[in-house]
Amino acid sequence: MKKSLLFFGSLLITTSLLVSFTDNATSQDPLQASIKRGKTVYESNCLSCHMNQGEGIPSVFPPLAKSDYLMADKNRAIKQVIKGLKGKIVVNGVTYDGEMPANDLSDQQVVDVMNYIRNSWGNKGKIVTIEEVKAARKMK
Ligand code: HEC
Repeated sequence: MKKSLLFFGSLLITTSLLVSFTDNATSQDPLQASIKRGKTVYESNCLSCHMNQGEGIPSVFPPLAKSDYLMADKNRAIKQVIKGLKGKIVVNGVTYDGEMPANDLSDQQVVDVMNYIRNSWGNKGKIVTIEEVKAARKMK
């Protein structure tokens, strides 16, 4: 009886140590923390068109998952997500000629959603910063 209590006791301590360790790991890595927040921004502002796995809808909404177009130019992508996009673009060899409305997001939300889409579904990109978002707002 005593032994098993001891066992469960130490199990509990190990688990809580592990949990606080992983929590710390996320909050100490700015990119991982931003990606985590970005998922929420994505779900309420982008998912309806670009879909759950960033796969888009063929010929209507371009994919973000493994999108050569998205990953080719970080600053262009930030600007387009803020201001919207209209006209012909080619994503992974497929032409789209639709319109994305401007997204009404704070600088921090843009940072987070960019970090999420550039680091999900097989994408891997450098961290997007608040300075880059501020600069993109001024781009024509
Ligand atoms: C109402 C539907 C809609 C919503 C909502 C939307 N988009 Fe788009 N998005 C589009 C369309 C349509 C295009 C292509 C526009 C064109 O053909 O010129 C596009 C293009 C893009 C592109 C560049 C092309 C590519 O696939 O790499 C990115 C990046 C992007 N959207 C990200 C986002 C993000 C991030 C959000 C949320 C903050 C978002 N979009 C919300 C419809 C949408």
